[in-house]
Amino acid sequence: TPEKEPLKPGDILVYAQGGGEPKPIRPEELKPGDPFVLAYPMDPKTKVVKSGEAKNTVLVVRYKPEELSPEVAQNGVEGIVAYSAVCTHLGCIVSQWVADKKAALCPCHGGIYDLARGARVIAGPPPRPVPQLPLKVEGGVLVAAGEFLGEVGVKAEAAFYRHV
Ligand code: FES
Repeated sequence: TPEKEPLKPGDILVYAQGGGEPKPIRPEELKPGDPFVLAYPMDPKTKVVKSGEAKNTVLVVRYKPEELSPEVAQNGVEGIVAYSAVCTHLGCIVSQWVADKKAALCPCHGGIYDLARGARVIAGPPPRPVPQLPLKVEGGVLVAAGEFLGEVGVKAEAAFYRHV
């Protein structure tokens, strides 16, 4: 089904919550210091929101540009950066904001990702960062500028070793 298609470069990012018409994310709606928002990719031609596949869940957050490490800033736009929201530990959705750390928390086992620094893991069991999604602005809304810069979710070999 089209809702389960993988994210593609050129997809428009829309708010995951809200119901009704899909709402593309406009850069000016995000403020530095605010919690991240969860988003799904929308096919720009068919307007299908690809919310049927958990691996398409993206988190989008804005920092002051100077708070971002250079490599992270490079793949963002105006201090806005996006990452896969699928925890690399066991695949839960990273859904909570830790305001004092300006970081993202996975509620399943307390994994915390520093989104300003390439989502490096600063607490909990995740074995690696969630991959970043390059962004651009087109027509005043956030658009995926490429593929995820790494494997989304739990790595196959990690899953294998857990079962031995
Ligand atoms: Fe996220 Fe375990 S699934 S910390």
